[in-house]
Amino acid sequence: MLKMTTRKLIEKKQKGTKIVTITSYDYAFAKLVDETKIDLVLIGDSLSMVMLGHKNTLTVTMEEMIHHTKAVACGITNALIVGDMPFLSYKVDLKDAVYNAGRFIQAGAEAVKIEGGTEILPIVKAMIDADIQVMGHIGLTPQAIYKFGGNLVQGKTTETAKKLIMDAKNLEKAGVFAIVLECIPWQIAKIITKSVSVPTIGIGAGPYCDGQILVIHDMLGINTDFKPKFLKYFGNVGAEIRKALLAYKDEVEKSVYPAIEHAYDFPKEDLDVVTKWVESADLDAEAEKLKAKKG
Ligand code: KIV
Repeated sequence: MLKMTTRKLIEKKQKGTKIVTITSYDYAFAKLVDETKIDLVLIGDSLSMVMLGHKNTLTVTMEEMIHHTKAVACGITNALIVGDMPFLSYKVDLKDAVYNAGRFIQAGAEAVKIEGGTEILPIVKAMIDADIQVMGHIGLTPQAIYKFGGNLVQGKTTETAKKLIMDAKNLEKAGVFAIVLECIPWQIAKIITKSVSVPTIGIGAGPYCDGQILVIHDMLGINTDFKPKFLKYFGNVGAEIRKALLAYKDEVEKSVYPAIEHAYDFPKEDLDVVTKWVESADLDAEAEKLKAKKG
């Protein structure tokens, strides 16, 4: 696969080909993801929970996001790399927003994602004017959980559903290359997907989006504390890691690992010399002599 671009993603929608996207936060996972030819990798601010152990996305900083973006970028050859702009990095001041988006690009991202609808159009425009590609994110935008009163499905009334549809239209017109739809009824996601020319990427938004995204630690079964309705485990990697660690612990404790086949050999004739020397030498005195020589 050649390098994925925002233009190719839009072409995928036009051809009706599903878009596969996922989060990653470090080099090792990014490399595995890239080998599978997944279209887009998001360094999500979900790293706040899955990598740093925080309770929500509100506490992750620009510095932490940039640090992880650099690591992910080192592991990616094919996928489009998108950096997720953290809370307070883009809604406070327009100039700071563009500057912070630019820092993601300097760290190796090829686009940024920001949360919000019609109210953030000036931010989207300013970033695009600065040649930074933007991905939208509407519905349950986790940076607004206190406004929503928790991780609640959005767009469940006629008014809020209409607002989501208009937000998507406005984001499309402002120039975003894709829109994440998070936790909204599937029928509304289907309407949005039909109404906009840019791809919709769903998470908890049903099967009719142009593509899907999941948090990698959730779908691999590493982070099992969080189990929303939309989540499906595609692996049981957490259990596998636990099994491997317990086996390692057991073998070390029982002196099974390492066996001689895991160890480096020393030539027999030289070993005789060393053994004889150890038997006859005053090791403390020899060690002191070495220290004195170094000093
Ligand atoms: O932070 C994140 O991981 C996200 C996606 C799940 C859309 O925003």
